[in-house]
Amino acid sequence: MNSSLFTKESNHLSESIRSDFQLSPQETSIFDQIDWTKCPRHVAIIMDGNGRWAKQRGKLRTSGHKAGVQSVYDVVEACGKIPTEYVTFYAFSTENWRRSESEVNALMSLFSSSLIKYIDRLERDGVSLRVIGDLSRMGPKIKEEFRQAEERTSNNTKICMTLALNYSGRADITRVAKSLADRVVSGELKSTDITEEMISNSLFTNFCPDPELLIRTSGESRISNFLLWELAYSEFHFTNVHWPDFRKLDLFKAILNFQQRDRRFGGIDSVNS
Ligand code: FPP
Repeated sequence: MNSSLFTKESNHLSESIRSDFQLSPQETSIFDQIDWTKCPRHVAIIMDGNGRWAKQRGKLRTSGHKAGVQSVYDVVEACGKIPTEYVTFYAFSTENWRRSESEVNALMSLFSSSLIKYIDRLERDGVSLRVIGDLSRMGPKIKEEFRQAEERTSNNTKICMTLALNYSGRADITRVAKSLADRVVSGELKSTDITEEMISNSLFTNFCPDPELLIRTSGESRISNFLLWELAYSEFHFTNVHWPDFRKLDLFKAILNFQQRDRRFGGIDSVNS
């Protein structure tokens, strides 16, 4: 594409997106640096720092989780207004069962109550809700509530919000390996026919593209068993902001940071080619 046409398209998109937001001067200064024609299609987020946020305020850890729900909704709302199509949140890992019983119970209640509180807004804002992970351990009530919410929002197309619940990247890959092995044993498939595409198509995330951008909050730089296969070529953005403080400004900063990376996918950059 010729560069003046590209700038025109980018400016036009930027103007139309901006009209959907009320931006502070600080948000505007980051917003204006973003090329909205190069927005990540899929953003994955490891929400961290709820406990530390609460501790800094002399509150219970659970109040940090509660405050974190507002950040989830703010990010979903912002993603619905930009060209991002998928946003995936790591809400509960298989390792999170090691937390105290009271914290686990509080999180389960929060998942349920947040769903009840936000389901009408999800509908209104065109959000399609998906859940990934092994929901069988979450209890029949939560499982059914999320199933109904997925069904109710399945025709929405503005943004797809995915919650990873009782999720483990290794467990997901293992599940797929077992099912492919079963098909080989039954003679339905030859091991030499197994492709990366078949594995991608069998993972919980088979309905969405791999994330281009992973954000982790609260100063930690690990992926903690999240989307291990899917993050193979993603750009990682780590921020010190605790999750309950994460707002659209922080999302814009992450997208800008993503656009400043040179994504080569194992090849060489254009300058050195
Ligand atoms: C990590 O912070 C956060 C979690 C394990 C839970 C995240 C869940 C939510 C924000 C609720 C989302 C719910 C819905 C329905 C959208 P941490 O507790 O590990 O914090 P710390 O590292 O400071 O202790």
